Amino acid sequence: MIIEKMKIDDYDEIHQIWSITNGTTLRAIDDSKEGIERFLKRNPNNNFICRIDGNIIGGILCGHDGRKGFIYHTVVNENYRDRGIGKKLVENVIKSLKEENITKIGLLVNSDNISGNNFWESLGFRYFKNLKYRILPLDEFNT
Ligand SMILES: CC(C)(COP(=O)(O)OP(=O)(O)OC[C@H]1O[C@@H](n2cnc3c(N)ncnc32)[C@H](O)[C@@H]1OP(=O)(O)O)[C@@H](O)C(=O)NCCC(=O)NCCS
Repeated sequence: MIIEKMKIDDYDEIHQIWSITNGTTLRAIDDSKEGIERFLKRNPNNNFICRIDGNIIGGILCGHDGRKGFIYHTVVNENYRDRGIGKKLVENVIKSLKEENITKIGLLVNSDNISGNNFWESLGFRYFKNLKYRILPLDEFNT
C-alpha cells in the first residue's frame, strides 16, 4: 500500500471512485477536472491517494485558507475498508496541515451517513449540534 500526494493525472481514477461511493456528493463545477486542478494547484501538499498494486483504491481532498483546513471526499474502495486506510489518509492530511502551521480542520458529513459519522467520531472529530451550516452559491447572487 502506498499513500502519495494526489496529482491531476489521478483525476479519472479517483473521480470514478467518488462517483460510485455512497456518502460522496459531487458538484459539477467543483469536481470537474478543471475544478480539481485548480484546487490541487492551491493546495499542492494536502491531497492524497492510496494505491494498492498500482491502482487507486482511496483518496482524500483537503485545502486550507491559511486559517483552517477543510476536508472533502474521503473515500476508500469497499473491498479495502476496515483496515486502517481511511485513518492513514486522514493522518497524512493532518501532518501536511501541521507542516503549514494550520491548527484546525473541518468537514461536512450528511447526518444520515451513520458509518461516515462513526468514522469521523472514532478519529476525534467533534460536531456541533447547535450550529447550522449556511451557504450562498455565488452564481445565484447578483451584484
Ligand atoms: C469512511 C471511510 C473512508 C472509512 O475508511 P476505512 O478505511 O474503512 O476506515 P479505517 O479502517 O481507517 O477506520 C478508521 C477508524 O474508523 C472506524 N470506523 C470506520 N468505519 C466505521 C464504521 N462503519 N462504523 C464504526 N467505526 C468505523 C474504525 O473502527 C477505525 O477506528 P479505530 O482506529 O479506533 O479502530 C470508508 O468507509 C468510506 O469510503 N465510506 C464511504 C464514503 C464516506 O462516507 N466518507 C466519509 C464521509 S465524508
